[in-house]
Amino acid sequence: MGSRSVSRIAVLPGDGIGPEVTAAAVRVLRAVIPSCTFGEAPVGAAAIASHGTPLPDETLALARASDAILFGAVGGPGFEDRTPDKRPEASILGLRKAFGLYANVRPSFAFPGLESRSPLRAELVRGMDLVIVRELTGGLYFGPKSLEREDGVLTARDGLVYRDFEIERIVRFAFALARTRRKHVTSVDKSNVLMSSQLWRRITIDVARDFPDITLEHMLVDNAAMQLVRDPRAFDVIVTENMFGDILSDEAAMITGTIGSAPSASLGADPHARGFGIYEPISGTAPDIAGRGIANPAAAILSAALLARFSLGEDEAAARIEDAVAQTLAAGPRTVDLDPPGEAVSTDAFTDAVLARLPAPLASALPS
Ligand code: IPM
Ligand code: MG
Repeated sequence: MGSRSVSRIAVLPGDGIGPEVTAAAVRVLRAVIPSCTFGEAPVGAAAIASHGTPLPDETLALARASDAILFGAVGGPGFEDRTPDKRPEASILGLRKAFGLYANVRPSFAFPGLESRSPLRAELVRGMDLVIVRELTGGLYFGPKSLEREDGVLTARDGLVYRDFEIERIVRFAFALARTRRKHVTSVDKSNVLMSSQLWRRITIDVARDFPDITLEHMLVDNAAMQLVRDPRAFDVIVTENMFGDILSDEAAMITGTIGSAPSASLGADPHARGFGIYEPISGTAPDIAGRGIANPAAAILSAALLARFSLGEDEAAARIEDAVAQTLAAGPRTVDLDPPGEAVSTDAFTDAVLARLPAPLASALPS
């Protein structure tokens, strides 16, 4: 149901196609949940240009004063020589860490009518419906990093560190999510090589004892990459460490036909707790099409639906947005990532078509 109080959304559009697609998501949220208010702040390369830093204090302050963040994308050319902590990407990593958002939920769903857009044969993809639960605040992304000359040899290090509690909470999250779905968890690791993966597997087996109704399967990450293209429908919930999840989630998204309709939620509590989160397309900045008004806004709009569900408790609004996007994708026309240039529509036209499929807001959702 959700409360009808005012919800404050921090909009951080960022770089590349970020501003175009977040604008579409804001239009949809305004239409469906008129009690949302929006405040915008710079992030990423845009913030480096305006404030000299990828995550300015005022952006962090706006985020802290908000119920959720609608995030676009960050990155861009010209930062290749900077260390990771000074690059545009440091902003999203800093936000995830600052808010303790350890659970990244990345659904990959074969939209009916779009199976022929998959790089795989349509019959392999029809009915695909999986969620990758990616650990988001540990592993290689946040381990000790260094670049030093050792005995005359330039040596770079990125440490892959996991603590028991970090593994336990993300695995619990995945099991709790599986309970709301087909009750199958695939834990992906590299336990034949990595110590951190051995600990991951041990803890996963322990946690599974508390979820006797869920089937647990372990899979090595290289095999998982292969099984995803062999039979994506075999997966329900995949839980994995940060870097493996980054890679596998792009693969899973592309199997649906486009990365342009893949949303994500980054959360800091169990999947049933209504709380703060960051909601963003997984696609990135798409510099090749940025600024032309042709990017697919579906991922951002579906991320707004996840925001409504996980941060605002507006399950019904979320389902309405998801239905409208699915109908629009099925009916076409769609954006250039899915339809041929002559037929494809703009970001705004696609968003108009989604809005046209949304019934007027519930009277109870109007501000009083
Ligand atoms: C993602 C992105 C980010 C990540 C980048 C922009 C830092 O690829 O959200 O998947 O690697 O987490
Ligand atoms: Mg990624």
